[in-house]
Amino acid sequence: MGSRVLVIGGTGFVGSHLVAASVDRGHDATVFSRGRRPITPEVASIVGDRRRPGPATRADLETGWDTVIDTCAHTAVDMDVSQSIPATRYLLLSTCGVYQAAGLSRIADESVPANTHGVARGKVQCERRVALLPAQSLVVRLGAVTGPDDPSGRAAYWIDRALRGTGVLVPARPDQPVQLVDVRDVAGFLAAMVDSEHTDVVNVAGPITLFAEFIDLIRAAGHGESEFDWAPEQFVLARGVRPWQEVPLWLPTDHPFRAHLRTGTDRAAQAGFVARPLAVTIADLTSWHRDHRCWHPYWLGLDREQALLQAIGGS
Ligand SMILES: NC(=O)c1ccc[n+]([C@@H]2O[C@H](COP(=O)([O-])OP(=O)(O)OC[C@H]3O[C@@H](n4cnc5c(N)ncnc54)[C@H](OP(=O)(O)O)[C@@H]3O)[C@@H](O)[C@H]2O)c1
Repeated sequence: MGSRVLVIGGTGFVGSHLVAASVDRGHDATVFSRGRRPITPEVASIVGDRRRPGPATRADLETGWDTVIDTCAHTAVDMDVSQSIPATRYLLLSTCGVYQAAGLSRIADESVPANTHGVARGKVQCERRVALLPAQSLVVRLGAVTGPDDPSGRAAYWIDRALRGTGVLVPARPDQPVQLVDVRDVAGFLAAMVDSEHTDVVNVAGPITLFAEFIDLIRAAGHGESEFDWAPEQFVLARGVRPWQEVPLWLPTDHPFRAHLRTGTDRAAQAGFVARPLAVTIADLTSWHRDHRCWHPYWLGLDREQALLQAIGGS
């Protein structure tokens, strides 16, 4: 019998790949979620809300686990339930977003102090709470994750553009860093960490790539159906286009979030983490995208994009 693993939130993007990897590795996996998304019938499940667990849910959680993998702790209150789940190991998914104020002069490894403000504040609180649990804990700080099923639309934005056969506005500088990790590599690493003795904190992020290389991969995946036009960053900013939201993955020069796309992963590599080449991830995501074409309302609209391209051409 494999390790008894409880995956809190095992039906989300990372969680569903993680559950599949855990089953492949022979773990005896149980999912704990609110049941708002489908739960794979291959594994046992506990349906409940971690913020309001009733007595029956608590009783199910208290049966004891070799390892808990927590994929949905966002603020300190989320960790209240964790105190009553007996486990030998506890893996907490956090974010490399804790390095957002780290500065741009160095690659952010685990020795860089975590932010205690902004969007990462809640994650840092969870990291502090997990260290107080009796279980042996490992905090896994994830970089931007993508791959099949990615609901974020970050890489899908560019793939969608590549397949549209239109002009594509690229406001990023060619030397902007991009760091994307494949969800399947994250899942395999987490499943392997169940049986390891690694503790403390580890960054799990993809290979650091330049935007120019990223665009080359996107173009190749789209078989040259679209034409990509590099646009001056200031020109696009001055017209009110919002980096990261409207144009995913674009972070202007000196934007503090850039630290989060230049994260060091030596510790993860020493623990056995291997990131597949970004070209493979993009190719697989493109195949997935062809079957699951998606569009996000916050993306830069096509008409506005074409108007900007015309303005640049005429400027
Ligand atoms: N995706 C990324 O690029 C990225 C980057 C850095 C860090 N991370 C971290 O990685 C983790 C996983 O991210 P994800 O994108 O896979 O998340 P996700 O798709 O939103 O999945 C969340 C999971 O948690 C469950 N859940 C949510 N609230 C719950 C509650 N109150 N009680 C019980 N279950 C609950 C959800 O199922 P129900 O809705 O059915 O309850 C679902 O299974 C998160 O901690 C995130 O901060 C992700």
